[in-house]
Amino acid sequence: MRFTIAIDGPAAAGKGTISKAVAAHYGFAHLDTGLLYRAVGARTLDGTDPIAAAKGLTAEDLEADNLRTPEVAQAASKVAVIGEVRAALVDFQRAFARRAGGAVLDGRDIGTVICPNAEAKLFVTASAEVRAERRYLELVGKGTEIDRGTVLADVKERDARDMERAEAPLKPAADAVLIDTSDLAIADAIAAAVAAIDAVRPTE
Ligand code: CDP
Repeated sequence: MRFTIAIDGPAAAGKGTISKAVAAHYGFAHLDTGLLYRAVGARTLDGTDPIAAAKGLTAEDLEADNLRTPEVAQAASKVAVIGEVRAALVDFQRAFARRAGGAVLDGRDIGTVICPNAEAKLFVTASAEVRAERRYLELVGKGTEIDRGTVLADVKERDARDMERAEAPLKPAADAVLIDTSDLAIADAIAAAVAAIDAVRPTE
C-alpha cells in the first residue's frame, strides 16, 4: 500500500505534532523535511558550503544536537532559498514518500513540489502570534534563554523568506485542506487532520 500525506505550513504551525500523531494513527512512517534543511543550515554555521552540505548530507548530520535552535532555523531558511540545495534533497524525499506502508511528510513544499500527487494534502497554519507563543514555550521548556519578541521576529522573518523565494515558495497546494490551529487544542487539530485524511482514504 502506498499512500502519501503531505503536511505543509509556516514556521511553528504545529506541523510536527500533527504529523507525528497522524503517522502513529495510520501506522505510516514520518519524515520531518525541515530537519533536512536545518541539518544543511547547521553545517553552514561551521563554514561548509551549503550545496556541498546538501549533496553530502549524512545520517550523522541529522542527529546534531543543535538542530532545533533558533540560529539553525534561520540558517535553514537561508539555505532553503538555494535551488541546488533543494534539488539535492528531492530524491530522498520522493523515495520516502512512496515507500510501502504509507508516509507522512511535513514541510513547506511537499504538496506543491515534492509530492504534487500526494493522496492527502493539508496546510496547517495559525496566527503568527499564536505560533510564536507556542515556539517560545517549547524553547523555554528546553532551557533556551530567549524572549517572546525575538521568537516572534524569527517566525515572521522566516515566513517572509519562505513565502517570497523563487524556488518552491511556501504556499498551500490548490487542493490542500486548510487547518487553522489558532483556536484549536492539540487533540482537536489532530482530529481535524484525521477527518480530512479519512475523507480521501479508500476504506479497506
Ligand atoms: O519547525 P519549524 O516550522 O519552525 O521549521 P522547520 O519545518 O524545521 O523548517 C526550517 C526551515 O527549513 C524553514 O523555515 C524553511 O525555510 C525550510 N524548509 C523548506 O524550505 N522546505 C521544507 N520542505 C521544509 C523546511
